Amino acid sequence: MKTNYSLLLRIWHWLNVIAVTGLLGTFFLRKTFLSWKDNSNIIIEKLSSYGIEVSIEQAKAVAKAIRAPMWEWHIIFGIMLAILLLLRLFILWKEKGFGYDHDKSMHMRLVYNGYKVFYAVLLFMAISGIILTWYEPLGISKDFAHSIKEIHELIAWVVVIFVPLHIAGVLMAENQDQKGLVSKMISG
Ligand code: HEM
Repeated sequence: MKTNYSLLLRIWHWLNVIAVTGLLGTFFLRKTFLSWKDNSNIIIEKLSSYGIEVSIEQAKAVAKAIRAPMWEWHIIFGIMLAILLLLRLFILWKEKGFGYDHDKSMHMRLVYNGYKVFYAVLLFMAISGIILTWYEPLGISKDFAHSIKEIHELIAWVVVIFVPLHIAGVLMAENQDQKGLVSKMISG
């Protein structure tokens, strides 16, 4: 078990929590309260009750315009995640690896390999997200960007599943054989 987390790694961890929570939060809002499909229906129904008829296209444009400022936060948190991943590479280089190697038990190997898979997932999300944001200046076709978006959206579910599993795993370890694990990620 790693005994101490460096200050840099601890700051990185909590900034990463903010970035991933922001990304998942904006994803959640896009699919629920700010879904253009639901909101365009509301716009059509409400306006129609006032005697104003609008087309589906017009209602869709209004619903998307309402969603747009919220979605800008997805890009802001996304850029934050991409910068954090670069910082993580720097920490890996500075600290000469993950520092996971001393615990050879089957359980901890599984946990640490899980983290490595999660880093790979985040890296994929960051690269695909950057491509989606700047596909035009990058010279990528709209069709190809659309395919990337579908994979980006699918892999997002891995993040959705990982986060509660990670929190549950850490809390279980804290209550079993790794007392103080949570405070070690806060105060070292
Ligand atoms: C934990 C990481 C991330 C998660 C869970 C996530 C989640 C998602 C999901 C679910 C969608 C599809 C939304 C939909 O079409 O309904 C999406 C789209 C998108 N994401 Fe991410 N994302 C992540 C990282 C990023 C990053 C790092 C960036 C950019 C720097 C980014 C930029 C975008 C863009 C531009 C779209 C397309 C939006 C559109 O078509 O209007 N994402 N993301």
